[in-house]
Amino acid sequence: MQQSVTQEYDYTIVKLFSVMAVVYAIVGFLVGDLLAWQLTFPELNFDIPYISFGRLRPLHTSAVIFAFGGSVLFATSYYVVQRTSKVRLFSNFLSWFTFAGWNLTVLAVVITYPLGLSQGKEYAEPIWPIDILITITWVAYFINFVGTLARRKERHIYVANWFYLAFIITVAMLHIVNNIAIPVNMTDSYSAYAGVQDAMIQWWYGHNAVGFFLTAAFLGLMYYFIPKQAERPVYSYRLSIVHFWAIIFLYIWAGPHHLHYTALPDWASTLGATFSIMLLLPSWGGMINGIMTLSGAWHKVRTDPILRFLIISLSFYGMSTFEGPMMSIKSVNALSHYTDWTIGHVHSGALGWVAMVSFGALYHMIPRLWNTKIHSVGLINVHFWLSTIGIVLYITAMWISGVMQGLMWRAYDDYGNLVYSFAETVEAMHPYYFIRSVGGLVFLLGGLVMAYNVFMTIRNANKVPAAA
Ligand code: HEM
Ligand code: HEM
Repeated sequence: MQQSVTQEYDYTIVKLFSVMAVVYAIVGFLVGDLLAWQLTFPELNFDIPYISFGRLRPLHTSAVIFAFGGSVLFATSYYVVQRTSKVRLFSNFLSWFTFAGWNLTVLAVVITYPLGLSQGKEYAEPIWPIDILITITWVAYFINFVGTLARRKERHIYVANWFYLAFIITVAMLHIVNNIAIPVNMTDSYSAYAGVQDAMIQWWYGHNAVGFFLTAAFLGLMYYFIPKQAERPVYSYRLSIVHFWAIIFLYIWAGPHHLHYTALPDWASTLGATFSIMLLLPSWGGMINGIMTLSGAWHKVRTDPILRFLIISLSFYGMSTFEGPMMSIKSVNALSHYTDWTIGHVHSGALGWVAMVSFGALYHMIPRLWNTKIHSVGLINVHFWLSTIGIVLYITAMWISGVMQGLMWRAYDDYGNLVYSFAETVEAMHPYYFIRSVGGLVFLLGGLVMAYNVFMTIRNANKVPAAA
């Protein structure tokens, strides 16, 4: 039976991307925690430019978002599109091409960032030759995904595939528009845009990298893996369609909330805030749809740590999509912008939502791909608690330090002088930076437990059949 399934579907490519996702998770978390310790104890920069905070920070964001998150998305989208369309992937060549292209991109990034080669746009740091490699790889991904859908044996395109498709198309558009530049040599280029237009294009890209890479695509995971793991149909299919159209229509306008109180015209900034506040509705609608899918299956959360990962991820999704619209209100942003509050918000979304839903999906998929059982359910449970404790330490420390930082910066005495010098505010952050570093370490430990569990599962796959 299994043989016919593996012949019908291309599981090899899904396996490769899944393994790389685990490897990149460890690398990304490790660099993230090193950064956290560097902020706590700056001596850890060791005066070595290659490992200084400024060069490692983009390495961390790219490793977690694009290398880890991207590999999870390639793996799950290739898995989900095959299973819900009941056909093999469109082209073996394109599958391998995307694998080679994506990993080559990661390698190029790992070499260029520590050397200080960057085009200086957040989340879009790669220099122009790497941007071209990304574009070619992405077009191959699009053709492979759409080709598979076109050959589907099911009449209906399952909603998860809609989310993946929106992600693939929008990321192509964002990447190309934001990276239009005039090269001056092999490593440097000038952006085609200038001044405030450049900033606006960059944050249109940046915000939609959040909206489509870190949100829409991972909602694709939610719509497939939660019903599968809970063995329940999606709570409301109709709501999922409304959710889809509302999310993709609203997200694309919200970018200017990153540029409040700048040279951007005030109306544009107000428009961004308005769309951000409206985003609360579909975000919560989607979260409720995911959570309600468990109706009648809540008892499973007690015994199934995979389901627990998936459900907790939705709670964090709800929290960060409540916090985001609040932070987009100008008067709130006047306090939160430039502070650690933003970093707390980022990681409640990134660790709580993106990483947790990915862990759940990987634990669901990996035993099925290798036709075996997971090495240890107990270790999934250990991973779950380490992640949860790590996240709570991380984000509460950042919330306290962020609000405190914002309040200290704006404190005036009766004569209109600043109450605190900047150095005093930095000193006040120190205990919270320490707590965040410990939280990151605990989260990283959880990642190592997962890597061991996955390694043992794959190693023993031949000895432990799925049904045993
Ligand atoms: C062990 C886990 C992690 C630790 C310890 C960690 C730590 C850090 C640190 C110290 C920074 C720099 C903060 C600053 O400049 O003040 C940072 C930035 C960032 N991290 Fe992480 N991180 C972790 C995991 C993740 C994951 C899984 C994601 C995404 C999926 C992520 C996404 C980001 C982003 C987007 C930024 C930039 C935020 C901004 O510019 O506002 N991190 N991280
Ligand atoms: C309705 C949903 C959301 C809205 C309206 C929203 C809004 C915001 C706002 C207002 C900021 C601060 C901008 C600034 O002061 O510079 C921000 C920053 C950020 N958010 Fe969200 N957020 C949402 C959900 C999420 C989620 C789910 C994630 C992660 C998975 C996320 C990741 C980020 C990142 C990475 C940044 C930092 C960008 C940077 O400055 O480098 N957001 N968001």
